[in-house]
Amino acid sequence: MENRYTAAVITVSDKGFAGLRKDTSGPAIAELLREDGYEVISASIVPDDMEKIMTGLVLCADRLCPCLIVTTGGTGFSRRDVTPEATRAIIEREVPGIPEAMRAESMRITPYGCLSREAAGIRGDTLIINCPGSEKAARECLAAVLPALKHGIQILRGWSGECSSNNGHEHKERHCNG
Ligand code: MTE
Repeated sequence: MENRYTAAVITVSDKGFAGLRKDTSGPAIAELLREDGYEVISASIVPDDMEKIMTGLVLCADRLCPCLIVTTGGTGFSRRDVTPEATRAIIEREVPGIPEAMRAESMRITPYGCLSREAAGIRGDTLIINCPGSEKAARECLAAVLPALKHGIQILRGWSGECSSNNGHEHKERHCNG
C-alpha cells in the first residue's frame, strides 16, 4: 500500500479563536502542504494559552497521528506568545535544524526574521513544526523547509531504510495504534 503523507494545521491566535480576525495563515499553510502532496486531515484554531496549545497538539498527534503538524502563530515576543514553549513541553525530541533553516531563510528576506522563536520536534511518529503568525511569514518559513520534510518523515516512520535504523515502528505502536 502506498504511504500517505498526512498533515494537520493548528492556528494559534486569540483573535482567530474568538472570531475577531479571519485566519488566512492556516488555510495558506494547508494549501502549501496540499500542493506538496500532503493530505490535510485537520485544521483547527486554539487561543494563545499554554495549556490549550499543549492539549491541542497532544490530541492531534496522539489521536490523528498525522505525519506532520504545522502550527502558525504565537512565536514572537508578546507576553501571550507561548507556542514554542508549549511545543517543547510535549515533544520527545527536538529538531533544531528546522527552525534554524527557517530563520536563516527569513533573514534573507527581512531583518525581523530572527524575531520568530519557532521550535520543531518529534512526538511519537509525528513531526511538529512552528511557523510565525502572519500569512507571509508562515508561507516563507514553511517553503524554506518543505523540500526536506518528506525525507525526514520517511525515516521517522520507517518507510525508508536510508539514513535510518528503522526504529520508527516502536513509536508507531505507542502512539499510532488506533
Ligand atoms: N519570517 C519571515 N520569513 N517573514 C516575515 O515577514 N516576520 C517576523 C518574524 N519572522 C517575518 C518572519 C516578525 S515581524 C515577527 S514579530 C516574528 O516572525 C514573530 O511572528 P508571530 O508572533 O506572528 O509568530
